[in-house]
Amino acid sequence: NRELRQGQFIGSLDCGTTSTRFIVFDKRAKIIAEHQTEFEQILPHAGWHEHDPEALVEAMTECVNKAVEKLEWMGWSRKSIKGIGITNQRETTVCWSRSTGKPLCNAIVWDDSRTLGVVREYEKKLEEEGLDIDDEEEDLHGVPEDVEIGTGGEDAAFGEKGDVVVETEDGQKKEDGLVEKVGQKLENLGLAENESKTKTEEKTIPQTNGDASVHVHKKRKGKEGIVDVTGIPLSTYFSAIKLRWMLDHNRDVHKAHEDDDLMFGTVDTWLVYALTGREQGGLHIMDVTNASRTLLISLKTLQWHPPLLRFFGIRPSVLPKIVSSSEIYGTISERCETALTTVPIAGIVGDQQAALVGNKCLRKGEAKCTYGTGAFVLFNTGEECVRSNYGLISTVAFQAGPDAKPIYALEGSIAVAGSAIKWLRDQINLIEESSDMDILAGSVADTGGVYFVTAFSGLLAPYWDREASGTIIGLTSYTTSAHIARATLEAVCFQSRAVLDVIEKESDTKCETLKVDGGVTNSDLAMQLQANIGGFNVARPAMRESTALGSALLAASALKLFGWDLSKPETLADVNTAGVHIFEPELPEKDRRKAIRGWERAVDRARKW
Ligand code: G3P
Repeated sequence: NRELRQGQFIGSLDCGTTSTRFIVFDKRAKIIAEHQTEFEQILPHAGWHEHDPEALVEAMTECVNKAVEKLEWMGWSRKSIKGIGITNQRETTVCWSRSTGKPLCNAIVWDDSRTLGVVREYEKKLEEEGLDIDDEEEDLHGVPEDVEIGTGGEDAAFGEKGDVVVETEDGQKKEDGLVEKVGQKLENLGLAENESKTKTEEKTIPQTNGDASVHVHKKRKGKEGIVDVTGIPLSTYFSAIKLRWMLDHNRDVHKAHEDDDLMFGTVDTWLVYALTGREQGGLHIMDVTNASRTLLISLKTLQWHPPLLRFFGIRPSVLPKIVSSSEIYGTISERCETALTTVPIAGIVGDQQAALVGNKCLRKGEAKCTYGTGAFVLFNTGEECVRSNYGLISTVAFQAGPDAKPIYALEGSIAVAGSAIKWLRDQINLIEESSDMDILAGSVADTGGVYFVTAFSGLLAPYWDREASGTIIGLTSYTTSAHIARATLEAVCFQSRAVLDVIEKESDTKCETLKVDGGVTNSDLAMQLQANIGGFNVARPAMRESTALGSALLAASALKLFGWDLSKPETLADVNTAGVHIFEPELPEKDRRKAIRGWERAVDRARKW
């Protein structure tokens, strides 16, 4: 019955691919209390990876409650936690019933590759039908509803490819001034007549009295159309493909969609729904960073893009409301089993974007790499949404409030990093504990010519080869388990180097220092290999929970706590500054280049297996 002290802390719930943690930070980003728990990885078939959504809720509840218990044991009242931020494994797709609040099936995890058939089907559809890349509907006084303005495609009925055309039906009378009005309209839309080679059909159309809306279509065929709108390619990785698979293969999901009873979300959406009281209809929201990974929003409007919903056959009613990454969305329900009822939820952000924020890469040109289950390099491009020509994806980095301008990033996603170490431990029995990797891999000076292309579910950035498969090459009778362990660590280093090559090319700047975080960064050897292979400095902070810290920063910023303000990076100057370790490259440049050439040859061998 001792008196508990009142403090000011911010909580962060981080639901990753293999474990969940809840961390309580103080105003210098020092960890005051934390709890972490693993949850089950369901692997029913080769290439399939699922989570039970209820297990995610249980893990969250356990982490929050145990961390609060520790906080109270230390003498702090739970009321010291002024709010929480949430960060999550992205793209993982959850479907549940609006009427029961219960999941309709297991979540499909981001690295699940069962949906290759869906990707192929929609690639074909893109080739055949194309996609409206702009979807603007505006009033044009006095124009009949059946007048359509469209862009001439390859096989357009009239006009040349790229022309803006006005389509009317045969036998209609021409209305005076229509051509001028359409011309004006196109100009307003930035499609001035001379630039767009505007042509109008000289067909007659009827007189009309009322106002009518005019649909402007800028259609694009082929794979690029989807990248134009969303910044990301058609791939098994992203949520719409997983949702489409569930709609086509799970009867309950299909029926709920038909009956308008389906709720779709990523892991942030699901956890917020559970926290805000699913019995009485919890909040159905998704933050803009998670939404940018669904293949369903336009990166220009940051809203669900109706042509994409039509393209994938998804009803708008299943979708959550898109919100910024930093605002007070609601409070934890009294009926929720966590120890933090009534506490505000004030930050939501995908985990890789969270790590960018937590590593304080808040200015244009700053980059970080997080080595978790996968590895993800993000490069802040500021308010400009930069499109990559060489295989990186454009994504929303964060939006620091509903009225704040979004900040964008270029991302290179590497599917396999820590999961390769786990594979050596659990499936190949090469090591007993993950921490044994350093000893084993460090017992040899090099890999003895062995390369391990860890393409367990194809290769993501910058290769985007879904046919590639895991390949160990360069084996001789001299090879030992130590060489293979070292090649496993090197694999992620070569891939981040390849991603940074692209970033350097796109941005015309040389990467001098890469900020890092995530589980694999506990390995000094892995970080030294990264510096050697990368040819740049690797900066590792002492407190490496950057992902959790990122969502805490966003939540505290919305709550105006500690003076932290994401729109003013200088307010974070004192946050997590202690003990940054720099690993400097030690490999001669010519050896580094030779090693990279060897890696590229190994990647070629892993392709189209
Ligand atoms: O895009 C997937 C990513 O968000 C998963 O991150 O840290 O759980 O491997 P992590």
